[in-house]
Amino acid sequence: MSLRTTTSTPIQVTSATQRFADSPGPTPAQLLEFVRRTAADADLVSALPLDPEGRTWVRLEGPGGSEAWLIGWPPGTGTGWHDHAESIGAFTTATGELTENALAVRLPTKGWRSLELFGGVDRRRTLPRGASRAFGHHHVHEVLNESRTEHAVSVHAYYPPLPLMRRFSRTGSVLRLEEIERPEDWQ
Ligand SMILES: [Fe+2]
Repeated sequence: MSLRTTTSTPIQVTSATQRFADSPGPTPAQLLEFVRRTAADADLVSALPLDPEGRTWVRLEGPGGSEAWLIGWPPGTGTGWHDHAESIGAFTTATGELTENALAVRLPTKGWRSLELFGGVDRRRTLPRGASRAFGHHHVHEVLNESRTEHAVSVHAYYPPLPLMRRFSRTGSVLRLEEIERPEDWQ
């Protein structure tokens, strides 16, 4: 047992998840192939507006009805801890370098507001230019540009298109559900 729930609050699964439940959709390998091919499009990557004050993004058409994004990361920016609900995904670094901190444990999808992580569940990966990553359902991570000087650009794809993202705060080993974001929050 690697985690312990401490309180209980139901989280509803949206109908968007159900809508795609019967569709085979793109495989993780197809999402990976897409993000790699897109990141290799120098014209597309260089057309992303970059802002030293915050992240920038452009939505792309992913394969097989997936949701895709080109994202610019100024030095020192990050996502905070979050998950992608029922969606699988892939991402790759097109320029610069990103770091991913992830949990190697599956969290309960509902019925908790905070939980305590036991030792050994943290995974840290550095993704320099060209490095890619695919993940499955309920993947919990944060992505960061830890550089002090270099902007990073990355390409991401999710299937089904994200019905929601759960945002967490983390203090030591305690992970707390802070917010559930819906697509209208990031369009
Ligand atoms: Fe993510």
